[in-house]
Amino acid sequence: MNKYEYIDKYYNLYAYGEVDAEMEATGGFLIDQAKGRVLDCGCGPVPQLWTIFMPAMTELYAIDLPQESIDFVNKKISTIHEWAGDFEGYKSFVESRVGALPEDYISTQVSKIKSVSQADMVKALPFDDWFFDTVISLYSLECLKNEKELRDTIANIKRILKPGGTLLHINTNGENKNNVLPAYTWNGLNQSSTLLRELLEEQKFLITCEEVKLPQNDDSMYKYSKIYLMRAFKQ
Ligand SMILES: C[S@@+](CC[C@H](N)C(=O)[O-])C[C@H]1O[C@@H](n2cnc3c(N)ncnc32)[C@H](O)[C@@H]1O
Repeated sequence: MNKYEYIDKYYNLYAYGEVDAEMEATGGFLIDQAKGRVLDCGCGPVPQLWTIFMPAMTELYAIDLPQESIDFVNKKISTIHEWAGDFEGYKSFVESRVGALPEDYISTQVSKIKSVSQADMVKALPFDDWFFDTVISLYSLECLKNEKELRDTIANIKRILKPGGTLLHINTNGENKNNVLPAYTWNGLNQSSTLLRELLEEQKFLITCEEVKLPQNDDSMYKYSKIYLMRAFKQ
């Protein structure tokens, strides 16, 4: 599978507005916690999707490592009229949590995306100090290769978060090997929750973490049985 095919296939996991157990947990986590100016750090092909689950977000910036993710997302943003209807299921889920939303909610949320750019979160995040209220890192820090990369990335995230800001992180219990996928997707630090927590605490973040068990899903592209929803508050 080449990278563009992979990205297309990955996007299709989310393309139908279906709220399964994993989406209920991850979506609910964002609805409750993400607010203000948000960075989607390691956005892959789906930052436009996560905007729907962040009604309290005012602006979204997104970065990812491969240029093909960026190209894909920019194309999706420019063709929103073709697919906005597919996300109605996600909107209904958000409404079940926060009450009725405007008819143009989906396009309004996507229009809050201010930039989608290529960056390596290990090396540098191209934003000013204290720029963000919230950083979301959804299934992405576990892709890093070793402790040093994770440590450097946490320092980069800390710099751009405001004091009182929050890193919202989701990762899996690592049962996600899929050898047909490109190396930058899932072949990193499996079982990274414990290490991540240690490194964040070293940097004086205050942590809460919830484990969510998932029902077995034989259709899924990945095989993992739990996800961890971690909230790291910058003092
Ligand atoms: C499993 S995907 C998750 C994508 C998306 N956040 C989601 O919710 O589905 C992991 C993402 O992390 C990105 N990533 C891995 N290493 C990175 C790095 N050093 N800098 C920026 N992004 C990176 C990958 O390109 C990939 O898009």
